[in-house]
Amino acid sequence: MTEPDRSSRISGFHTWTVAQRQQAVQEWAALRPEEIAALESGLSLLRADKMIENVIGQHALPLGIATNFLVNGRDYLVPMVIEEPSVVAGASFAARLFRAGGGFKCQSLGREMIAQIQVLDLDSLEEAQKQLREAEARILRRANFLQPGMMARGGGAKSLEVRVFPETPAGPMLIVHVLVDTVDAMGANALNSIAEGLAPMVEEVTGGRVNLRILSNLSDRRMVRVEGRVPAETLAGNGLDGQQVIRHILEAAALAEVDPYRAATHNKGIMNGMDAVAIATGNDWRALEAGAHACAARPGRYTSLTRWQETENGDLAGSLEVPLAVGIVGGATQSHPTARVALRILGVETAAELAQVIAAVGLAQNLAALRALTTEGIQRGHMALHARQMAIAAGARPDEADIVVDQMVKEQDIRPQRARDVLDALRSHSGAIHPMENTDQ
Ligand code: MEV
Repeated sequence: MTEPDRSSRISGFHTWTVAQRQQAVQEWAALRPEEIAALESGLSLLRADKMIENVIGQHALPLGIATNFLVNGRDYLVPMVIEEPSVVAGASFAARLFRAGGGFKCQSLGREMIAQIQVLDLDSLEEAQKQLREAEARILRRANFLQPGMMARGGGAKSLEVRVFPETPAGPMLIVHVLVDTVDAMGANALNSIAEGLAPMVEEVTGGRVNLRILSNLSDRRMVRVEGRVPAETLAGNGLDGQQVIRHILEAAALAEVDPYRAATHNKGIMNGMDAVAIATGNDWRALEAGAHACAARPGRYTSLTRWQETENGDLAGSLEVPLAVGIVGGATQSHPTARVALRILGVETAAELAQVIAAVGLAQNLAALRALTTEGIQRGHMALHARQMAIAAGARPDEADIVVDQMVKEQDIRPQRARDVLDALRSHSGAIHPMENTDQ
């Protein structure tokens, strides 16, 4: 695809109206009017009823656009679906800092997903392992026969791995891993079909009994690595110079490496960004979560997914390596109208490209959190947005919300009851909004 000469570096995007932002994105991705409409209307009940069981409605979340992303030399506007304030702003801000260092460099470290087949009641684990090795080509042929579409698209079952667990609470067992390149699909259905379809053959080859047949969400053969550099001077602020901010960030990152209590929060921040893009594009974000946290625990102790260091010339360098099982075909990526539009806005052409952008958002989100936490703290920005949510929940119209928010932030009294009181005072035209005692805590 030839890329128009354009940049995702948009200054002041957050100050534009929703209509102005929509228009910019419409021009960016050449969206048709019905696609813009899909951003607002989302799912129809009819379609929702076809997606899951027992449907009675739908549940909307805000879809925002993160700006400034430069990934492997290409500009992206990144759709993010999330209920939490500051995440989209944080990603855009950090992407701007990485952009000043040349943008994100991403690479996919593999394309294969793992289907697991559990085999029990074996006379000898070693013998069964040998039999499976000998039958590998036949088993792979069968797997590809079960999913011919995947082979036609350039993927398919590639190899087998056999793992043995001589001692488990349920006795000895052997696990067959079928490594499958699912190309542009996340691949859960294909993997599960392969695992189920191969079970009789695995029983015949080993003489054992197959129990579980399911994909693994620790998709560590489908990892993505992203790295980037942030010039020190771009980090200066809050009375600190760039070097000081880098030192504080490295101290915070070190804690996440050694302490699982901090690592959990640190990684949660990374997943704030990654999940938001996964949700926007109709991908299974629980699978991303499972893979990321399992990966973070692999050293034997739960640790941080990112690594940060100071470069030789005093800049900040960060990297993230994470399993990323996402697709651009199949499932909700195509059946959810908003997800389809989100993919059009991103303009990714392969699942690997989507995974790389998602990883870049994860790294950006981590930097945004670390910088905020080690400088002004996250509450200041959070509280204004939190106050806005309360004002809206209290029933304020957009023009009223600004006044209610300003008042609550000024008073540092951000409570649902105060939002209602300020709104009532505003509407009663009394002109005076009196501070109140904080009574609900
Ligand atoms: C909040 O949703 C995420 C953070 O707690 C992440 C972090 O602490 O690194 C700000």
